[in-house]
Amino acid sequence: MTTTAALPVAAAPSRGPFRLAVAILVVNLFTILKGAMTTSTGSGLAYPDWPLSDGQLMPASSYTTVPGFLEHFHRLFGATLGLLALALAIWLQATRDGTPRLRRCAWFGGCLILVQGIVGGTGVLRELPALNSATHGTLAQLIFALFAWIAYQLSARHAATSPLADVAPGAGRRLMLVALAAMVVQTVIGALARHTNSPHALWTHVGNSFVVFLVGAIASAFATGRLGEAPGVRGLARSIVSLLIVQIGLGFVVLAVRNPEGKRPENVEHLGRALVISVHVVIGALLTVLVALLAAHVFRATRRHPALDFE
Ligand code: HEM
Ligand code: HEM
Repeated sequence: MTTTAALPVAAAPSRGPFRLAVAILVVNLFTILKGAMTTSTGSGLAYPDWPLSDGQLMPASSYTTVPGFLEHFHRLFGATLGLLALALAIWLQATRDGTPRLRRCAWFGGCLILVQGIVGGTGVLRELPALNSATHGTLAQLIFALFAWIAYQLSARHAATSPLADVAPGAGRRLMLVALAAMVVQTVIGALARHTNSPHALWTHVGNSFVVFLVGAIASAFATGRLGEAPGVRGLARSIVSLLIVQIGLGFVVLAVRNPEGKRPENVEHLGRALVISVHVVIGALLTVLVALLAAHVFRATRRHPALDFE
């Protein structure tokens, strides 16, 4: 059986930055849902300009038409996300909360959101080349995972997690990174399938989902079996396996309801189908976040025991 060694519990950073990081995750989730709905309804070119929409900050069509509403409010959500990330970076910098690495990560996350806006905006100006759209879709999930990692490092649980005494330092870390890489590869292939409508990419995505499931299940089983005593590990592992099963089932529904011609403006007439497809994108993002969080928990629980440094 695994036990935790008695170690002085490190002081958790103040609660404010943690709460802000959680708020960033919530806004990020809605931004991804809005973006996915924009793509699923073929509304990416509702406004041909950027950074303004039809030359205005708040065009009337953004609350009188569905494509205008989805695309414009997606931009507003994206801008809000950027401002919240900037606030977190400034807050951490000013209060010196967290480690220097964490503060660098917060600034880096803010810069990534800026890059994300530029990729989305220049994509609009260039009439949505697949490379822009696929990069934008993938980057969204990486940003989401990065802020989940930042939130974990600001949490009381992170401060309270001691290294597990009878597990070798570093155990399982490589396996977690492989599982995370599998999720990212699956997202890249899904994004290529979505934005190029290539049957080759589509079937590679379907086939690869079974590899992703296998790797995710092995990583979760390992984490539960060897590191299950560490706070949060069991819950994360269970959620990953359950969501993977839901996601694969939903994937077949997506395959059945999607327009074989891909993203087209007329898809907006089928909002229910667009929502089903968008939920698949959102669950993909949640899975990336959960696997990243599991990896972060495993890294935390298998760090070198400070007492050993004196031996
Ligand atoms: C603020 C500037 C932004 C602009 C101008 C913008 C623009 C767009 C456009 C035009 C699309 C549709 C692309 C297509 O159908 O080909 C889109 C989709 C999307 N956007 Fe943004 N976006 C911005 C910010 C963000 C941010 C900050 C995030 C999240 C971190 C994000 C996440 C997404 C996602 C997940 C999709 C759907 C991708 C997919 O389903 O394949 N966007 N965005
Ligand atoms: C491990 C399981 C899976 C994960 C994590 C996953 C994730 C994703 C993500 C993130 C996207 C959108 C990428 C983007 O644009 O940013 C996507 C697209 C897609 N996925 Fe999956 N997927 C999985 C399994 C499946 C399965 C089993 C199927 C079908 C049987 C499927 C069918 C599709 C289709 C058809 C699209 C493109 C939708 C469109 O054209 O609009 N997925 N997937």
